[in-house]
Amino acid sequence: MGEVAKIRIEGKDLELPTIVGTENEKAVDISALRAQTGYITIDEGFVNTGSTQSAICFLDGEQGILRYRGYPIEELCEKCDFVEVSYLLMYGELPNAQQLEHFRSSLRRHTMLHEDMRMFYNGFPRDAHPMAILSSVVGALSTFYQDSLDPKNPQEVEMSIFRLMAKLPTIAALSHKKSIGQPFMYPKNSLEYVENFLYMMFAVPSEDYQLDSDFVEALNLLFIVHADHEQNCSTSTVRMVGSSDANLFASISAGICALWGPLHGGANQACVEMLEAIKADGGNSKKYIDMAKDKKSGFRLMGFGHRVYKNYDPRATIIKRTCDKLLKKLKIKDPIFDIAQELEQAALSDPYFIERKLYPNVDFYSGIIYRAMGFPVEMFTVLFALGRLPGWIAHWREMQMSPSKKIARPRQIYNGPAKRSFIPLHERK
Ligand code: CMC
Repeated sequence: MGEVAKIRIEGKDLELPTIVGTENEKAVDISALRAQTGYITIDEGFVNTGSTQSAICFLDGEQGILRYRGYPIEELCEKCDFVEVSYLLMYGELPNAQQLEHFRSSLRRHTMLHEDMRMFYNGFPRDAHPMAILSSVVGALSTFYQDSLDPKNPQEVEMSIFRLMAKLPTIAALSHKKSIGQPFMYPKNSLEYVENFLYMMFAVPSEDYQLDSDFVEALNLLFIVHADHEQNCSTSTVRMVGSSDANLFASISAGICALWGPLHGGANQACVEMLEAIKADGGNSKKYIDMAKDKKSGFRLMGFGHRVYKNYDPRATIIKRTCDKLLKKLKIKDPIFDIAQELEQAALSDPYFIERKLYPNVDFYSGIIYRAMGFPVEMFTVLFALGRLPGWIAHWREMQMSPSKKIARPRQIYNGPAKRSFIPLHERK
């Protein structure tokens, strides 16, 4: 028998069981609270509320630890490529050689889009944001693949996972080609996952395309560090939509929309735009640090702070190192990298940021690498989505397979007007 939490409400005593996770994280199980006391709990933004138990990702925000299925993120970045990590997240174990080859070839087989789906792109305006295109086209997959939509049928789920993983890079690259008016490149299935994506993004039919191995390595690493982060806003969205038994494509399309916001994945675009604005304003970092501290300014340092990390985000450490290495190798002197490092130094020694435990997060340096590789700023959040896809799928699948799955349906405390008499139109002031 573990610890028991006791509460006393309206003279009644109630004992609530506790749950302890693998890494000693502790929770009070309140599932009997309302039935026994009539009370619910309120926790705006779910700051203290666990929505589920999950075996996919562990993070310790105080110590800056991140592990996928028990493996430290640093080790996975060093020893795996993105496809291998995707398998680990979705299926729970590292694949053996045969399983990995089967997974890779299944992903290769489904990279093309239905020709009618390619026609969708004609209907989007040239300046459409690629995140809007991404979520629309992913949602539309459920119109083309009606043979694999049943979340309770394991074969259908498997098929829709392969289709989604294989097609997302194609969908993303086409949205970029559309925005710059270049011909769409069909996928080349002799290439690996990340290589194929770079090819569809940057190749043109009239020229040979040389893949850059440094870009391939950096993008694999960036996708791995973005691949999962337990119950973040977009993953919780995917789970919530999926909890109604909506199909995988519909659930992921909703997750893409949640990721787009600048407080979540959209921060990578917002961060580079902020750094550019600081550069254009003479590179005065102090002015922007002061603005971020002034609540009335409405300005936040983008790429800084995190709901869970109260220490340096381990993903930011890996990305900063990669950024430094890549820029040196490419002999690029990017002034916004210097501004970013200056801002970081200034913030890390400023009492406002120290007291609130605000550190650079995953979005602070990633945009600088994407830029060096030639990605336009609007594509940055799309790159986050490509990386996060296996995590979303893993959570959706874990939820669907859970015997305790329930539709997600939070409660509320109503604080609007009490019952009142209807006022006819002619009597209203
Ligand atoms: N710049 C200045 N002040 C900040 C910042 C920031 N970036 N982030 C938090 N604060 C302050 C905030 O004003 C508050 O101060 P006070 O206690 O005086 O009211 C305190 O720090 C706590 O902030 P919060 O808004 O209550 O914290 P939260 O957990 O609700 O928000 C966050 C987390 C990530 C939304 C927030 O830190 C933020 O807006 N950061 C900028 C956007 C960003 O980089 N987002 C990417 C997050 S990581 C990747 C991802 O999830 O996609």
